[in-house]
Amino acid sequence: MRYPVVTLSSPAAQQPDWPDPAMAAAVVTELAGLPPLVFAGECDQLRERLAAVSRGEAFVLQGGDCAETFAGANADAVRAKLQTILQMAVVLTYGASVPVVKIGRLAGQFAKPRSRPTEIRDGVELPAYRGDAINGFDFTPQARAHDPARMLRAYHCAAVTLNLCRAFTTGGYADLHQVHAWNRDFVRNSPSGQRYERLAGEIDRALSFMRACGAESDELRSVEFYSSHEALLLPYEQALTRIDSRTGLAYDVSAHFLWIGERTRALEGAHVEFAASIRNPIGVKIGPEATADEVRALIRRLNPDREPGRLTLITRLGADAIRTLLPPLIKAVQEEDSPVAWICDPMHGNTFEAPSGHKTRRLADVLDEVQGFFEVHRSAGTHPGGIHIEFTGDNVTECVGGSHEINPADLHQRYETACDPRLNRGQALDLAFTVAESYRTLPG
Ligand code: PEP
Ligand code: CO
Repeated sequence: MRYPVVTLSSPAAQQPDWPDPAMAAAVVTELAGLPPLVFAGECDQLRERLAAVSRGEAFVLQGGDCAETFAGANADAVRAKLQTILQMAVVLTYGASVPVVKIGRLAGQFAKPRSRPTEIRDGVELPAYRGDAINGFDFTPQARAHDPARMLRAYHCAAVTLNLCRAFTTGGYADLHQVHAWNRDFVRNSPSGQRYERLAGEIDRALSFMRACGAESDELRSVEFYSSHEALLLPYEQALTRIDSRTGLAYDVSAHFLWIGERTRALEGAHVEFAASIRNPIGVKIGPEATADEVRALIRRLNPDREPGRLTLITRLGADAIRTLLPPLIKAVQEEDSPVAWICDPMHGNTFEAPSGHKTRRLADVLDEVQGFFEVHRSAGTHPGGIHIEFTGDNVTECVGGSHEINPADLHQRYETACDPRLNRGQALDLAFTVAESYRTLPG
């Protein structure tokens, strides 16, 4: 096999500093010989689904942990995340009457960009945590050392996670007749759990009606589910980039969908060069500093053939700024006359530090950014194509607000994230209900 399939010549930001480059090279060679995690045909299918999103015919639900951990690659944790996605997707599909494209932020979200290379605690300075694919979370010199062997573990954890996802989503568990079962282990007496139960009851009646009419279809028995992560750690992504035997084109087979983060979207940087060279559908995060010219240039570079579904712009502008910053970006994209799917990440522009020192987000701000996203797109005549969120299936206390309210004073109770604060299952369901309602009542 020829390796690397894709060579990069531009400067790469946010890369690890391996202490033993020969060992890193050996790991990459081993990775390059391992089987693909996803198939090129599946990536093509997702590109078609995203093309439908760019035409206004479907809505994306993309979500999962900010940073997956190796310890989290177990059946209980993955099932809880999938249940949350399935429940949110049902609320959106039924509540907003729109097909939902489901993309997990999982099976590969193991590398994190950092604003500062080191972290200081009580006068001790160590390398920052960069995700389980690079170093460990514990604040010790051993854990924080960059270790290339972790890339192999990341691959194997991604493989087991994806295997669980494929089994859960096609093996009967995601059958729409199981809508109540997904809620069973969830706090039934939580407000969002009860609201969900009522909706599940309505779906049950609709299914019985269809069965009585002889109109039941096999499509209700499984769901299409895709994986995604930030394509940050270039040696890992390059090692998993392969030539598709059908088309002779390069696909990154580490996930169906890859995105470029806010800190690595420099036009002349290696991450954009890498994304331009693969055939997968790709996304770019667009933060408050992005200019209309930058967005135009990214579109030309990443989707020169103006192919629908190829490029998704994931805006993360903040609740306060979205109504003023998004309109000129939309105008610039309209002038390019190149199709994009627009997705709102209402998490990363709304992070602040609570008095206790915890990094947190308010559910009200998250909802307000999505509302602003809907308003701006509707008045521009463009389609608000989906949401990108950070959540977990567990009952953590990392974001404040929600119908089962978490207060700033509660944050310490179960603050477990390895990186950014995530919505818990109840808050994720609250969000789905509100988003479905706003989407349904959009004027026009
Ligand atoms: C993230 O998605 O976790 C992230 C780091 O986002 P951004 O690149 O938008 O800051
Ligand atoms: Co994050």
